[in-house]
Amino acid sequence: MGTLDGRRIVLGVTGGIAAYKAVEVCRRLVDAGAHVSPILTNAAQRFIGKATFDALASEKVQTSLWDEESPIPHTLLGQNADLIVVCPATARLLADYRMGRSADLLTATLLATRAPVVICPAMHTEMWEQPAVQENVTVLAQRGVEIVGPEKGRLAGGDSGEGRLADPVNILATVERLLGEQAPQKDLTGLQILVTAGGTREPICPVRYLGNRSSGKQGHAIAAQAVARGAQVICVTTQADQAPQHPQITVQAVDTAAQMTSAVFEAAPQSSIVIMAAAVADFTPVSVAEQKIKKSTGTTEILLQPTVDILATLGAQRTAGQVLVGFAAETNDLVENAAKKLAAKGVDLMVANDVAADQVGFGHDTNAVVILSATGSSEEVPLASKTEIANAVLDAALKTLHQNSKN
Ligand code: CTP
Repeated sequence: MGTLDGRRIVLGVTGGIAAYKAVEVCRRLVDAGAHVSPILTNAAQRFIGKATFDALASEKVQTSLWDEESPIPHTLLGQNADLIVVCPATARLLADYRMGRSADLLTATLLATRAPVVICPAMHTEMWEQPAVQENVTVLAQRGVEIVGPEKGRLAGGDSGEGRLADPVNILATVERLLGEQAPQKDLTGLQILVTAGGTREPICPVRYLGNRSSGKQGHAIAAQAVARGAQVICVTTQADQAPQHPQITVQAVDTAAQMTSAVFEAAPQSSIVIMAAAVADFTPVSVAEQKIKKSTGTTEILLQPTVDILATLGAQRTAGQVLVGFAAETNDLVENAAKKLAAKGVDLMVANDVAADQVGFGHDTNAVVILSATGSSEEVPLASKTEIANAVLDAALKTLHQNSKN
Protein backbone atom coordinates (compact mmCIF):
# COMPACT_ATOMS: atom_id res chain seq x y z
CA MET A 1 0.00 0.00 0.00
CA GLY A 2 1.39 3.42 -0.96
CA THR A 3 0.78 6.51 1.15
CA LEU A 4 -1.01 8.17 -1.78
CA ASP A 5 -2.87 5.18 -3.20
CA GLY A 6 -5.46 6.21 -5.78
CA ARG A 7 -4.99 9.95 -5.19
CA ARG A 8 -5.24 12.10 -8.33
CA ILE A 9 -2.45 14.62 -8.49
CA VAL A 10 -1.81 17.22 -11.16
CA LEU A 11 1.92 17.94 -11.42
CA GLY A 12 2.50 21.35 -13.00
CA VAL A 13 5.98 21.98 -14.37
CA THR A 14 7.06 25.49 -15.37
CA GLY A 15 10.12 26.69 -17.21
CA GLY A 16 13.05 26.81 -14.86
CA ILE A 17 16.27 24.84 -14.77
CA ALA A 18 14.91 22.90 -11.78
CA ALA A 19 12.33 21.36 -14.16
CA TYR A 20 14.54 18.28 -14.39
CA LYS A 21 13.96 17.67 -10.68
CA ALA A 22 10.21 17.47 -11.32
CA VAL A 23 10.97 14.10 -12.91
CA GLU A 24 12.12 12.82 -9.52
CA VAL A 25 9.03 14.28 -7.84
CA CYS A 26 6.83 12.60 -10.48
CA ARG A 27 8.51 9.25 -9.87
CA ARG A 28 8.12 9.51 -6.10
CA LEU A 29 4.41 10.43 -6.41
CA VAL A 30 3.82 7.46 -8.72
CA ASP A 31 5.78 5.16 -6.36
CA ALA A 32 3.55 6.34 -3.49
CA GLY A 33 0.53 5.12 -5.48
CA ALA A 34 -0.78 8.41 -6.90
CA HIS A 35 -2.28 8.89 -10.37
CA VAL A 36 -0.13 11.71 -11.71
CA SER A 37 -1.27 13.99 -14.55
CA PRO A 38 1.65 16.20 -15.63
CA ILE A 39 1.05 19.60 -17.22
CA LEU A 40 4.11 21.09 -18.88
CA THR A 41 4.16 24.75 -19.85
CA ASN A 42 5.80 25.77 -23.14
CA ALA A 43 8.81 27.09 -21.26
CA ALA A 44 9.10 23.86 -19.25
CA GLN A 45 9.44 21.93 -22.51
CA ARG A 46 12.55 23.96 -23.32
CA PHE A 47 14.16 22.39 -20.27
CA ILE A 48 12.69 18.91 -20.21
CA GLY A 49 10.92 16.72 -22.75
CA LYS A 50 7.33 15.55 -22.69
CA ALA A 51 8.56 12.02 -23.42
CA THR A 52 10.29 11.78 -20.03
CA PHE A 53 7.04 12.38 -18.17
CA ASP A 54 5.12 10.18 -20.62
CA ALA A 55 7.36 7.31 -19.60
CA LEU A 56 6.99 7.92 -15.86
CA ALA A 57 3.54 9.31 -15.14
CA SER A 58 0.46 7.13 -14.97
CA GLU A 59 -1.74 9.67 -16.79
CA LYS A 60 -1.44 11.54 -20.06
CA VAL A 61 0.98 14.46 -20.21
CA GLN A 62 -0.76 17.67 -21.29
CA THR A 63 0.79 20.82 -22.61
CA SER A 64 -1.88 23.04 -24.08
CA LEU A 65 -5.41 24.29 -23.64
CA TRP A 66 -6.05 23.71 -27.32
CA ASP A 67 -4.56 20.53 -28.73
CA GLU A 68 -6.53 18.01 -26.67
CA GLU A 69 -9.61 16.09 -27.72
CA SER A 70 -11.47 17.70 -24.84
CA PRO A 71 -12.26 21.38 -25.39
CA ILE A 72 -12.02 22.06 -21.66
CA PRO A 73 -9.08 20.05 -20.32
CA HIS A 74 -8.44 22.53 -17.49
CA THR A 75 -11.86 22.05 -15.88
CA LEU A 76 -11.55 18.27 -16.04
CA LEU A 77 -8.06 18.32 -14.57
CA GLY A 78 -8.94 20.94 -11.96
CA GLN A 79 -12.19 19.35 -10.82
CA ASN A 80 -10.83 15.82 -10.69
CA ALA A 81 -7.61 16.61 -8.88
CA ASP A 82 -7.19 15.75 -5.21
CA LEU A 83 -4.18 18.06 -5.17
CA ILE A 84 -2.13 20.20 -7.55
CA VAL A 85 1.60 20.59 -7.06
CA VAL A 86 3.60 23.06 -9.15
CA CYS A 87 7.26 22.13 -9.25
CA PRO A 88 9.25 24.15 -10.04
CA ALA A 89 7.21 27.37 -9.92
CA THR A 90 8.80 30.35 -11.67
CA ALA A 91 8.29 33.98 -10.70
CA ARG A 92 5.91 34.26 -13.65
CA LEU A 93 3.73 31.42 -12.43
CA LEU A 94 3.56 33.03 -8.96
CA ALA A 95 2.50 36.35 -10.50
CA ASP A 96 -0.09 34.81 -12.82
CA TYR A 97 -1.60 32.67 -10.08
CA ARG A 98 -1.69 35.53 -7.59
CA MET A 99 -3.46 37.74 -10.15
CA GLY A 100 -5.90 35.01 -11.18
CA ARG A 101 -4.61 35.15 -14.74
CA SER A 102 -5.48 32.21 -16.94
CA ALA A 103 -2.49 32.28 -19.28
CA ASP A 104 -2.14 28.62 -20.28
CA LEU A 105 -3.36 25.14 -19.35
CA LEU A 106 -1.55 25.10 -16.00
CA THR A 107 -2.78 28.48 -14.75
CA ALA A 108 -6.29 27.75 -16.07
CA THR A 109 -6.26 24.45 -14.14
CA LEU A 110 -5.10 26.23 -10.97
CA LEU A 111 -8.09 28.55 -11.28
CA ALA A 112 -10.50 25.71 -12.01
CA THR A 113 -9.87 23.70 -8.86
CA ARG A 114 -10.96 23.59 -5.25
CA ALA A 115 -8.23 21.08 -4.40
CA PRO A 116 -5.28 22.00 -2.16
CA VAL A 117 -2.38 23.54 -4.07
CA VAL A 118 1.32 23.13 -3.30
CA ILE A 119 3.73 25.57 -4.93
CA CYS A 120 7.48 24.93 -4.97
CA PRO A 121 9.25 28.09 -6.14
CA ALA A 122 12.73 27.90 -7.62
CA MET A 123 14.69 30.80 -9.05
CA HIS A 124 17.81 32.87 -8.60
CA THR A 125 18.21 34.56 -5.22
CA GLU A 126 17.88 38.05 -6.72
CA MET A 127 14.54 37.13 -8.28
CA TRP A 128 13.30 35.36 -5.14
CA GLU A 129 14.12 38.36 -2.98
CA GLN A 130 12.32 40.87 -5.22
CA PRO A 131 9.56 42.54 -3.19
CA ALA A 132 7.08 41.78 -5.99
CA VAL A 133 7.86 38.06 -5.86
CA GLN A 134 7.79 38.02 -2.05
CA GLU A 135 4.46 39.80 -2.03
CA ASN A 136 3.00 37.30 -4.48
CA VAL A 137 4.14 34.41 -2.30
CA THR A 138 2.75 36.04 0.85
CA VAL A 139 -0.64 36.64 -0.76
CA LEU A 140 -0.81 33.07 -2.07
CA ALA A 141 0.12 31.69 1.37
CA GLN A 142 -2.59 33.84 2.96
CA ARG A 143 -5.07 32.28 0.56
CA GLY A 144 -4.14 28.86 1.89
CA VAL A 145 -1.69 27.81 -0.83
CA GLU A 146 1.06 25.64 0.63
CA ILE A 147 4.48 27.06 -0.26
CA VAL A 148 7.40 24.61 -0.04
CA GLY A 149 10.90 26.06 -0.17
CA PRO A 150 12.91 27.36 -1.80
CA GLU A 151 15.99 26.14 -0.01
CA LYS A 152 19.49 27.55 0.20
CA GLY A 153 22.18 25.92 -1.90
CA ARG A 154 23.86 25.78 -5.27
CA LEU A 155 21.96 27.46 -8.09
CA ALA A 156 22.34 27.40 -11.85
CA GLY A 157 25.46 29.08 -13.19
CA GLY A 158 27.55 28.20 -10.13
CA ASP A 159 25.90 30.74 -7.83
CA SER A 160 24.77 29.80 -4.40
CA GLY A 161 22.00 31.21 -2.21
CA GLU A 162 18.30 30.95 -1.45
CA GLY A 163 16.23 29.90 -4.43
CA ARG A 164 16.97 26.23 -4.97
CA LEU A 165 13.98 23.97 -5.43
CA ALA A 166 12.97 22.21 -2.21
CA ASP A 167 14.27 18.68 -1.85
CA PRO A 168 11.88 16.25 -3.60
CA VAL A 169 11.66 14.37 -0.28
CA ASN A 170 10.23 17.49 1.39
CA ILE A 171 7.83 18.08 -1.50
CA LEU A 172 6.53 14.53 -1.22
CA ALA A 173 6.24 14.88 2.58
CA THR A 174 4.07 17.98 2.12
CA VAL A 175 1.81 16.22 -0.38
CA GLU A 176 1.51 13.27 2.01
CA ARG A 177 0.73 15.57 4.92
CA LEU A 178 -2.07 17.20 2.93
CA LEU A 179 -3.47 14.05 1.36
CA GLY A 180 -2.11 10.97 3.00
CA GLU A 181 -2.72 9.37 6.35
CA GLN A 182 -1.55 12.48 8.17
CA ALA A 183 -4.03 14.73 6.32
CA PRO A 184 -5.85 17.00 8.75
CA GLN A 185 -9.06 15.43 9.91
CA LYS A 186 -12.13 17.50 9.25
CA ASP A 187 -12.96 17.15 12.93
CA LEU A 188 -14.26 20.72 13.31
CA THR A 189 -16.81 20.49 10.50
CA GLY A 190 -20.14 22.07 11.45
CA LEU A 191 -18.64 24.25 14.21
CA GLN A 192 -18.43 28.03 14.21
CA ILE A 193 -15.25 29.27 15.85
CA LEU A 194 -14.58 32.85 16.83
CA VAL A 195 -10.90 33.85 16.99
CA THR A 196 -9.43 37.22 17.87
CA ALA A 197 -5.97 38.27 16.76
CA GLY A 198 -3.53 41.16 16.99
CA GLY A 199 -3.06 44.03 19.41
CA THR A 200 -5.63 46.77 19.82
CA ARG A 201 -4.75 50.44 19.30
CA GLU A 202 -6.19 53.08 21.57
CA PRO A 203 -6.07 56.56 20.01
CA ILE A 204 -4.59 59.43 22.01
CA CYS A 205 -4.97 62.04 19.28
CA PRO A 206 -5.50 61.83 15.48
CA VAL A 207 -1.92 60.61 14.93
CA ARG A 208 -0.89 58.68 18.06
CA TYR A 209 -2.13 55.61 19.81
CA LEU A 210 -1.32 53.28 22.71
CA GLY A 211 -0.55 49.83 21.34
CA ASN A 212 1.26 46.61 22.07
CA ARG A 213 3.62 44.23 20.31
CA SER A 214 1.14 41.54 19.25
CA SER A 215 1.55 40.64 15.54
CA GLY A 216 -1.64 38.62 15.20
CA LYS A 217 0.31 35.60 13.87
CA GLN A 218 -0.86 33.15 16.53
CA GLY A 219 -4.53 34.11 16.18
CA HIS A 220 -4.32 33.95 12.40
CA ALA A 221 -2.66 30.51 12.56
CA ILE A 222 -5.56 29.31 14.70
CA ALA A 223 -8.07 30.69 12.19
CA ALA A 224 -6.24 29.00 9.28
CA GLN A 225 -6.00 25.65 11.05
CA ALA A 226 -9.62 25.75 12.21
CA VAL A 227 -10.69 26.17 8.60
CA ALA A 228 -8.34 23.42 7.42
CA ARG A 229 -10.11 21.19 9.94
CA GLY A 230 -13.52 22.08 8.55
CA ALA A 231 -14.76 24.91 10.83
CA GLN A 232 -16.53 28.09 9.85
CA VAL A 233 -14.41 30.90 11.30
CA ILE A 234 -15.00 34.50 12.29
CA CYS A 235 -11.65 36.22 12.75
CA VAL A 236 -11.81 39.56 14.55
CA THR A 237 -8.40 41.09 13.98
CA THR A 238 -6.43 44.31 14.14
CA GLN A 239 -4.17 42.99 11.35
CA ALA A 240 -6.82 42.26 8.72
CA ASP A 241 -4.37 42.61 5.81
CA GLN A 242 -2.33 39.71 7.23
CA ALA A 243 -5.30 37.49 8.03
CA PRO A 244 -5.74 34.18 6.19
CA GLN A 245 -8.16 34.41 3.28
CA HIS A 246 -10.56 31.58 2.71
CA PRO A 247 -14.23 31.26 1.76
CA GLN A 248 -14.91 29.81 5.24
CA ILE A 249 -13.28 32.70 7.11
CA THR A 250 -15.09 35.96 7.73
CA VAL A 251 -12.46 38.53 8.58
CA GLN A 252 -13.64 41.45 10.65
CA ALA A 253 -11.20 44.33 10.90
CA VAL A 254 -11.11 46.27 14.17
CA ASP A 255 -8.73 48.75 15.72
CA THR A 256 -9.67 49.56 19.29
CA ALA A 257 -10.60 47.46 22.32
CA ALA A 258 -14.12 48.92 22.15
CA GLN A 259 -14.51 47.84 18.51
CA MET A 260 -13.19 44.38 19.35
CA THR A 261 -15.63 44.17 22.24
CA SER A 262 -18.65 44.92 20.01
CA ALA A 263 -17.51 42.52 17.27
CA VAL A 264 -16.88 39.69 19.73
CA PHE A 265 -20.11 40.22 21.66
CA GLU A 266 -22.04 40.08 18.40
CA ALA A 267 -20.44 36.86 17.11
CA ALA A 268 -19.89 34.96 20.38
CA PRO A 269 -23.46 33.72 21.04
CA GLN A 270 -23.47 31.76 17.74
CA SER A 271 -19.94 30.34 18.25
CA SER A 272 -19.22 26.96 19.83
CA ILE A 273 -15.64 27.92 20.59
CA VAL A 274 -14.28 31.40 21.31
CA ILE A 275 -10.51 31.83 21.30
CA MET A 276 -9.23 35.19 22.53
CA ALA A 277 -5.70 35.25 21.14
CA ALA A 278 -5.73 39.05 20.78
CA ALA A 279 -3.78 41.32 23.09
CA VAL A 280 -6.56 43.65 24.16
CA ALA A 281 -5.63 46.97 25.76
CA ASP A 282 -6.52 47.06 29.45
CA PHE A 283 -6.69 50.86 29.41
CA THR A 284 -7.84 53.46 26.95
CA PRO A 285 -7.54 57.26 27.06
CA VAL A 286 -10.54 58.88 28.75
CA SER A 287 -10.71 61.36 25.88
CA VAL A 288 -9.10 61.59 22.47
CA ALA A 289 -7.59 64.97 21.60
CA GLU A 290 -9.33 66.39 18.53
CA GLN A 291 -6.10 67.77 17.15
CA LYS A 292 -2.54 66.55 17.23
CA ILE A 293 -1.01 67.21 20.65
CA LYS A 294 1.84 69.62 19.93
CA LYS A 295 5.32 69.15 21.34
CA SER A 296 5.12 72.66 22.73
CA THR A 297 2.50 71.39 25.22
CA GLY A 298 5.40 70.08 27.30
CA THR A 299 4.86 67.41 29.92
CA THR A 300 1.45 65.93 29.24
CA GLU A 301 -0.74 63.67 31.29
CA ILE A 302 -2.96 61.15 29.54
CA LEU A 303 -5.74 59.94 31.76
CA LEU A 304 -6.60 56.30 31.15
CA GLN A 305 -9.68 54.32 32.02
CA PRO A 306 -10.07 50.52 32.07
CA THR A 307 -11.55 48.81 29.03
CA VAL A 308 -14.16 46.06 29.15
CA ASP A 309 -12.57 42.67 29.90
CA ILE A 310 -14.09 40.83 26.93
CA LEU A 311 -13.13 37.34 28.05
CA ALA A 312 -14.25 37.80 31.66
CA THR A 313 -17.60 39.17 30.44
CA LEU A 314 -18.07 36.16 28.14
CA GLY A 315 -17.08 33.91 31.06
CA ALA A 316 -19.78 35.45 33.23
CA GLN A 317 -22.56 35.17 30.66
CA ARG A 318 -21.60 32.28 28.46
CA THR A 319 -23.92 30.29 26.24
CA ALA A 320 -24.40 26.72 27.50
CA GLY A 321 -21.77 24.27 26.28
CA GLN A 322 -19.60 26.98 24.72
CA VAL A 323 -15.84 26.66 25.14
CA LEU A 324 -13.90 29.78 26.09
CA VAL A 325 -10.16 29.94 25.55
CA GLY A 326 -7.90 32.77 26.72
CA PHE A 327 -4.23 33.52 26.14
CA ALA A 328 -2.22 34.73 29.13
CA ALA A 329 0.72 36.86 28.06
CA GLU A 330 3.16 36.73 30.96
CA THR A 331 6.75 37.75 31.58
CA ASN A 332 7.15 35.94 34.92
CA ASP A 333 5.53 33.20 37.06
CA LEU A 334 3.93 31.89 33.87
CA VAL A 335 1.77 29.02 35.09
CA GLU A 336 0.84 30.62 38.40
CA ASN A 337 -0.34 33.86 36.79
CA ALA A 338 -2.15 32.04 33.99
CA ALA A 339 -3.96 29.78 36.47
CA LYS A 340 -5.17 32.87 38.34
CA LYS A 341 -6.47 34.38 35.09
CA LEU A 342 -8.21 31.14 34.16
CA ALA A 343 -10.16 31.17 37.43
CA ALA A 344 -10.78 34.93 37.50
CA LYS A 345 -12.17 35.03 33.95
CA GLY A 346 -14.21 31.84 34.30
CA VAL A 347 -12.87 30.22 31.14
CA ASP A 348 -12.29 26.58 30.16
CA LEU A 349 -8.73 26.86 28.90
CA MET A 350 -5.93 29.37 29.37
CA VAL A 351 -2.95 29.22 27.05
CA ALA A 352 0.03 30.45 29.05
CA ASN A 353 2.54 32.25 26.89
CA ASP A 354 5.91 33.49 28.19
CA VAL A 355 6.29 36.54 25.97
CA ALA A 356 9.71 37.41 27.37
CA ALA A 357 11.42 34.12 26.34
CA ASP A 358 13.52 33.68 23.19
CA GLN A 359 11.73 32.67 19.93
CA VAL A 360 8.39 32.83 21.69
CA GLY A 361 5.32 35.03 21.42
CA PHE A 362 5.09 38.49 19.85
CA GLY A 363 6.19 38.69 16.24
CA HIS A 364 7.88 35.27 16.07
CA ASP A 365 6.78 32.37 13.88
CA THR A 366 7.32 30.01 16.78
CA ASN A 367 5.80 29.78 20.22
CA ALA A 368 5.89 27.60 23.33
CA VAL A 369 2.89 27.37 25.64
CA VAL A 370 1.31 25.56 28.55
CA ILE A 371 -2.41 24.88 28.08
CA LEU A 372 -4.18 24.98 31.45
CA SER A 373 -7.66 23.59 31.84
CA ALA A 374 -10.38 24.49 34.35
CA THR A 375 -10.50 20.79 35.21
CA GLY A 376 -6.98 21.13 36.64
CA SER A 377 -5.04 19.42 33.87
CA SER A 378 -2.16 21.08 32.05
CA GLU A 379 -0.36 20.31 28.80
CA GLU A 380 3.04 21.69 27.88
CA VAL A 381 3.65 22.33 24.18
CA PRO A 382 7.39 22.97 23.72
CA LEU A 383 8.83 25.32 21.08
CA ALA A 384 6.96 24.70 17.82
CA SER A 385 5.60 26.62 14.85
CA LYS A 386 2.54 28.77 15.51
CA THR A 387 0.66 26.37 13.22
CA GLU A 388 1.46 23.42 15.50
CA ILE A 389 0.56 25.45 18.59
CA ALA A 390 -2.70 26.38 16.86
CA ASN A 391 -3.55 22.70 16.38
CA ALA A 392 -2.71 21.87 19.99
CA VAL A 393 -5.05 24.67 21.16
CA LEU A 394 -7.80 23.46 18.80
CA ASP A 395 -7.33 19.85 19.99
CA ALA A 396 -7.73 20.96 23.61
CA ALA A 397 -10.76 23.13 22.76
CA LEU A 398 -12.48 20.30 20.87
CA LYS A 399 -11.86 17.86 23.73
CA THR A 400 -13.39 20.38 26.15
CA LEU A 401 -16.38 20.90 23.83
CA HIS A 402 -17.07 17.15 23.92
CA GLN A 403 -16.71 17.12 27.72
CA ASN A 404 -19.03 20.15 28.10
CA SER A 405 -21.67 18.46 25.94
CA LYS A 406 -21.65 15.41 28.22
CA ASN A 407 -22.15 17.50 31.39
N1 CTP B 1 -8.59 40.06 27.45
C1 CTP B 1 -9.86 40.48 27.11
N2 CTP B 1 -10.22 41.78 27.33
C2 CTP B 1 -9.35 42.66 27.89
C3 CTP B 1 -8.05 42.22 28.24
C4 CTP B 1 -7.70 40.91 28.00
O1 CTP B 1 -10.66 39.69 26.62
N3 CTP B 1 -9.72 43.89 28.08
C5 CTP B 1 -8.25 38.66 27.19
C6 CTP B 1 -7.09 38.46 26.24
O2 CTP B 1 -7.53 38.38 24.91
C7 CTP B 1 -6.50 37.15 26.71
C8 CTP B 1 -6.80 37.13 28.19
O3 CTP B 1 -7.84 38.08 28.39
O4 CTP B 1 -7.13 36.04 26.12
C9 CTP B 1 -5.63 37.47 29.06
O5 CTP B 1 -5.04 38.69 28.64
P1 CTP B 1 -3.77 39.27 29.36
O6 CTP B 1 -3.41 40.56 28.73
O7 CTP B 1 -2.73 38.20 29.49
O8 CTP B 1 -4.32 39.48 30.82
P2 CTP B 1 -5.07 40.65 31.50
O9 CTP B 1 -6.40 40.16 31.96
O10 CTP B 1 -5.09 41.86 30.65
O11 CTP B 1 -4.17 40.87 32.81
P3 CTP B 1 -2.71 41.57 32.96
O12 CTP B 1 -2.53 42.44 31.74
O13 CTP B 1 -2.83 42.34 34.21
O14 CTP B 1 -1.70 40.45 33.03
